[in-house]
Amino acid sequence: MKETNTNLIHEATGAAAVSPSGTSDDPVRAVPERKVFVKTYGCQMNVYDSQRMTDSLAQQGYVTTQTPEDADLVLLNTCHIREKASEKLYSALGRLRKMKDERAADGRDMLIGVAGCVAQAEGEEIIRRAPSVDLVIGPQTYHRLPQALTRVGRGEKVVETEYAIEDKFEHLPAPGKEQVRSRGVTAFLTVQEGCDKFCTFCVVPYTRGSEVSRPVSQIVAEAERLAAAGVRELTLLGQNVNAWHGQGAGGREWGLGELLFRLAEIPGIARLRYTTSHPRDMDDALIAAHRDLDQLMPYLHLPVQAGSDRILKAMNRRHTGADYLRLVERIRAARPDIALSGDFIVGFPGETEEDFQATMQLVRDVTYAQAYSFKYSPRPGTPGADLPDHVEEAVKDDRLQRLQALLTEQQHAFQRGMVGQSMDVLLEKPGRLPGQMVGRSPWLLPVIVGENPGEIGDIITVRIISTGTNSLVAEAVAAKRQADGAPQALDGASPGKVLSGFPSGLA
Ligand code: 5AD
Ligand code: SF4
Repeated sequence: MKETNTNLIHEATGAAAVSPSGTSDDPVRAVPERKVFVKTYGCQMNVYDSQRMTDSLAQQGYVTTQTPEDADLVLLNTCHIREKASEKLYSALGRLRKMKDERAADGRDMLIGVAGCVAQAEGEEIIRRAPSVDLVIGPQTYHRLPQALTRVGRGEKVVETEYAIEDKFEHLPAPGKEQVRSRGVTAFLTVQEGCDKFCTFCVVPYTRGSEVSRPVSQIVAEAERLAAAGVRELTLLGQNVNAWHGQGAGGREWGLGELLFRLAEIPGIARLRYTTSHPRDMDDALIAAHRDLDQLMPYLHLPVQAGSDRILKAMNRRHTGADYLRLVERIRAARPDIALSGDFIVGFPGETEEDFQATMQLVRDVTYAQAYSFKYSPRPGTPGADLPDHVEEAVKDDRLQRLQALLTEQQHAFQRGMVGQSMDVLLEKPGRLPGQMVGRSPWLLPVIVGENPGEIGDIITVRIISTGTNSLVAEAVAAKRQADGAPQALDGASPGKVLSGFPSGLA
């Protein structure tokens, strides 16, 4: 069975959407225009990084293009989380080499760069195996991209994978207003990077390094800039986002809960979300934010990975199944209509049928609105890879199939439960048919609304009339513009039976 999940955009592949240059608030360029094609693999943090790299390249005179064929620079922003990442990369590089050779025969140049977690993990090896690559740059050094390209321009092959001492966010240029607008009314904002949890299956602590939180002032300034350009919904990102901490007003130590309250004060910000969280870092203040902060959307991606305590221990998750269930109870007591999403791994070394049944039971006990499930894939250099008793592929396939059947059933039940409900929808883009708009429910699922219900950025009240494929179909019941955008209560949505399609992160 294909290792997949039932959501929409887990694999955020595709070119980063960026506006053409020359907009009124872009800096004046002294350099000729060149084209960059950015392909993004993996999680939302890579999507955010691709945007920031594109912002930085815009200052070097690069405009984005949607195809590699006419690009002067092709940048692959890679993901290393599961198997086949490097195989995928090398086959993409094989195709690009042909393109580069054809271009060279015409007397034109095409630069190839590899960024992201595979770049970090493999470094120079990438250039050894694929000599057509000009630049390898790890996630902590993106702010050095302009200098790296200058060196490449001088004919050097550049590998930048050192952990930078300087704060990359300080040195990455902010996007112009037009750039932000072109990306839509929802935006990602990375507030935290890296992870200190060392789950034994996971490469993140090695590729992204240890936990770093961005300071409050930097986050607030970026959020204000986004809001001023028309962004209405912010999703705070971090590999382990709820481990974020910083110094708030009066030098007080803040956690993510306090940060969310501060961001909610910014005019124009109507909705807040965050991902991805570790159960151990869900503190009281964050749970209270789910109870008290209207702008915080009732959706939480809270990976558990497995249901068996023996396997959770071997994974170094630092919580039991019962801890997780108690936590879910507390969160639901604070916010009864919250939708839960999770990540699951089947076939971790030593997993028996009984262990797997504990995962199935936990899923039944929690009832997820959305979930992501994977077969365990040994990642070189992680402790899990060296454990004995690896599970046979056919057994992993079978377990994944059974788990996904249960999760899909829960997701569909949730979607069906939405029909007839009223809810607020943030309109994001035009739909496929004339007059149609596509927005998002508080629970994140796309909602298609007909008959010119409002403008992009409006939050309108709709009634759900049917379910589509991973979307809901609705009619507007109150085409009004809301200043604050706080979601209205559902008419009797059953607690915990809420869905969404949200790309998974980590934790
Ligand atoms: N094998 C399978 N799944 C993995 N994940 C992370 N590492 C591995 C691995 N080695 C999954 C986890 C994580 C999600 C982003 O990817 O479920 O939460
Ligand atoms: Fe950290 Fe999440 Fe990876 Fe665990 S799964 S090591 S919490 S990023």
